[in-house]
Amino acid sequence: MRIDIISVVPELLESPFNASIMKRAIEKGLVEVHFHNLRDYSTGSYRQVDDYQFGGGAGMVLMVEPIDKCISGLKSQRHYNEIIYMTPDGETFNQKTANKMSLQENIIILCGHYKGVDQRVRDHFITKEISIGDYVLSGGELGALIVCDAIIRLIPGVLGDETSALTDSFQDNLLAPPVYTRPASYKGWEVPEILLSGNFPEIEQWREDEAYKHTKNRRPDLLEN
Ligand code: ADE
Repeated sequence: MRIDIISVVPELLESPFNASIMKRAIEKGLVEVHFHNLRDYSTGSYRQVDDYQFGGGAGMVLMVEPIDKCISGLKSQRHYNEIIYMTPDGETFNQKTANKMSLQENIIILCGHYKGVDQRVRDHFITKEISIGDYVLSGGELGALIVCDAIIRLIPGVLGDETSALTDSFQDNLLAPPVYTRPASYKGWEVPEILLSGNFPEIEQWREDEAYKHTKNRRPDLLEN
């Protein structure tokens, strides 16, 4: 998979790809991530990429021309399955979307900033708009990182069996059951007997029951879907 991320502050994006699972996925050659500084595509003075909005109003808007140059340049080199715009008025990101996106070959993620992008970018290039939740961030970069993390860990081969994504919360519309590790007894706080029994079918059943109870308690809406 190849991910191209377009941003006016690419320095916000780099470090999460240099650690842990995303780093390992890149090292294994399972994903390539490329950052594009929108200012490199500016044709204006002082590497300008934003301007006042027509009709008046507070806040600057990212201009269509640099974004067109960047996206059109990328599209001339390969086919992109999806061109995503990070925005609080997009569709709320969830595990189902992450699963689908993890199967794609090439995607572009455009990060908004200031008041957002000129609507013509959204009309003519963007194929999907994603929000990471009902709150407003200073830009799309942190959201883009969340989307990247959620999809990269699902790419086959990124996680080993021991950390399989199949048992993650949300994977079956269920939250994950509780987990324990050694010691079995600490300050009189005991690990549930069943987990020490070695009876794997019963352990599996216990985990399913716990996942269901936990979901019913915390997120009954997930059981309705
Ligand atoms: N940009 C600003 N706020 C955002 C959000 N909630 N989700 C995605 N991108 C954003």
